Amino acid sequence: METGTVFKPTILGFLCNWCCYGGADLCGVSRFQYPPYLRVIRVMCSGRVDPAFIFRSFLKGADAVFVGGCHLNDCHYNPEGNYDALVMSKINKKLLERIGVNPERLRLEWVSAGEGIRFAEIMNDFSKKIKKLGPLGSSEGLDKKELRFKLEAVTQLVPYIKLVEREKLRVPVRSEASYDKFLASGWLDRLFDEMIADKLVLSQIMLLLREKPRSTVEIAEALGLNPSQASKYLGNSSSRGFIRFDESQKRFVPA
Ligand code: FES
Repeated sequence: METGTVFKPTILGFLCNWCCYGGADLCGVSRFQYPPYLRVIRVMCSGRVDPAFIFRSFLKGADAVFVGGCHLNDCHYNPEGNYDALVMSKINKKLLERIGVNPERLRLEWVSAGEGIRFAEIMNDFSKKIKKLGPLGSSEGLDKKELRFKLEAVTQLVPYIKLVEREKLRVPVRSEASYDKFLASGWLDRLFDEMIADKLVLSQIMLLLREKPRSTVEIAEALGLNPSQASKYLGNSSSRGFIRFDESQKRFVPA
């Protein structure tokens, strides 16, 4: 959020109760300094941070979101939730990128309860970067309405994204080596393109049609697609029963 000419970002932090929250507490008790932009929400595990929390935070005016968990292999739950947080964070960043929001506005870090100084260092660095990026939306060339529309389209898709993550993106062996190998394999990027990117466009089409009936050309213009791309998406949605063509209006409407 902006006050006068001085930009003071709002950073929402979801901190795991067992590690990062303790690190933040120790940071305060030790009087290590960092800018006062962070608002903290305590969660039981970084794996509990639903993608909907992230996108709703941005919808409610956060300029950045921080997720802090226990170091890998130190998570207090079985199976380890922070490995899920790691994969979900990659997906969330890709979603932000797709909607034109700088993915650097989302940051995931591991901080133990004994690392007060590390917490301060991370928050100093993150605050500096977000201050430099500027306010959410306007810095990315998105007006408020456009930003809200895109964030709502992602939020609407969250149940599906969670299903994809659970069914396709969980590595059977929870170790840093297996996850490093998995993330370097390019599988997540391919799966994102094949299973999520198109659904994001469909989600935006559904939102547009809930506003009012629209033609192929109007949809194409609103989403920056060419008419043949828009036609492909509309045909796909129509054949799956999500939308239908209303002959009387010569426009598509929700089914
Ligand atoms: Fe801290 Fe899972 S308990 S990340």
